[in-house]
Amino acid sequence: MNVARKLYIKSFGCQMNVYDSHRMADTLASEGFTETPRIEDADLVILNTCHIRDKAQDKVFSELGRVRAIKEAAARSGRQLTIAVAGCVAQAQGEEIIRRSPAVDIVVGPQSYHRLPALLERAKRDGRAIDTEFPVEDKFDNLPPPPREATRTRGVCAFVTVQEGCDKFCTFCVVPYTRGSEFSRPVLKIVSEVERLAESGVREVTLIGQNVNAYHGDGPDGRAWPLGRLLAHLSELPGIARLRYTTSHPADMDASLIAAHRDLPKLMPYLHLPAQSGSDRILAAMKRRYRRADYLRLIERLRAVQPNIAFSSDFIVGFPGETEDDFKATLSLVDAVGYAGAFSFKYSARPGTPAAELPDQVPEAQKSERLYRLQAAIDRNCARFNAQWQGRAVLVLFEKGGRYSGQIVGRSPYLQPVQVMASRDLIGRLASVRITRVSSNSLFGVLAPDADRLAREQHQLSAGA
Ligand code: 5AD
Ligand code: SF4
Repeated sequence: MNVARKLYIKSFGCQMNVYDSHRMADTLASEGFTETPRIEDADLVILNTCHIRDKAQDKVFSELGRVRAIKEAAARSGRQLTIAVAGCVAQAQGEEIIRRSPAVDIVVGPQSYHRLPALLERAKRDGRAIDTEFPVEDKFDNLPPPPREATRTRGVCAFVTVQEGCDKFCTFCVVPYTRGSEFSRPVLKIVSEVERLAESGVREVTLIGQNVNAYHGDGPDGRAWPLGRLLAHLSELPGIARLRYTTSHPADMDASLIAAHRDLPKLMPYLHLPAQSGSDRILAAMKRRYRRADYLRLIERLRAVQPNIAFSSDFIVGFPGETEDDFKATLSLVDAVGYAGAFSFKYSARPGTPAAELPDQVPEAQKSERLYRLQAAIDRNCARFNAQWQGRAVLVLFEKGGRYSGQIVGRSPYLQPVQVMASRDLIGRLASVRITRVSSNSLFGVLAPDADRLAREQHQLSAGA
């Protein structure tokens, strides 16, 4: 018999970490752990960490300071708290973490989560356990599938990892080192996970991978399936109303994926397509494998098959050697595309990556100034995108209750939160909403049965049907 124990798990960074955290919780559920939202009640704390930029990593060490204090308080009252560091900082720093934070008991890299129960045993026996290998066995085959009840409590929208790792080696990025080389899960494994999620009430699935559109998993016909084909197959599954995928590399948008945006009504017309920079000189130094003109041509091809498509992006400012002219090229790309949203980051030199060794590192003050200007340009574009929805009908997938009683919240095809006064019975369903007010990050509207036809037309149009 397993003793009932409590698990507190906190994710930093990307959606893949959120997914991994759920899978770790599922694995530990079979060891008798139940999740708690209160760190003070926990027997095991897992910090699932991110290494992508300095700031993300610093957050982990400040959080560890807080957890150590809680561990000490627990020890004074005779309770033992185990601390595990998982994720990409664990992978990159290994033992160094325990040297810096001796209160840590377990360090586990992203490819070894299925070994957590064994690591807990080892930590109990030896006081410490570290596993940052890239094991030969596949962690996905060794992690239990998500339990039906757990997914129900996790809501209407779910993430499913279909691809992990990256072989692109952009010169600024740690991902190829922390997550390892590209790996695609087989089609049937993904299908059964999505079926399970649909049975438990999930309506929207986002396929995730560091380089998701490099997906090439084994299909049931013995061939490697591209992402477009996988999406077409998943869109036939009962219960699934919406599909998304993220994050894509512009050089991997193949014909099957572009066709999917034309042919699949359930594939949302919203694509995260990180450009990183608008300057050819910087794109080359980043080893991004496309030029500005290629990126813009790709945007045009997608718009040609799917006129309602909108884009979001990631940008880095202050990459080594970036001049004012290079930066202006990024600003002009933002305006040329007219993004619905974008994330922007100051370049952060990551140890072990080629760009960290480049001369001409940009001074911090200049990075801050460029970030400020870029964010202003992005905000302008985003506000313009949102404003166009005023008075129009959108199809909303309702996810949960809102902040005020009687209010529910869902998302538009473009991930905009939409707030409506309506019955909670609509949660988990698609309904048409006429937008009455647009704020900086939300849309407000009323249920609009009369707008139903309009919204469906729009949806069909967006499907190219
Ligand atoms: N510095 C700043 N931003 C980075 N990103 C990745 N590596 C770095 C880095 N070293 C950004 C990229 C990527 C996003 C997830 O994080 O824009 O698309
Ligand atoms: Fe990093 Fe993405 Fe480039 Fe891969 S494609 S190295 S994950 S930025």
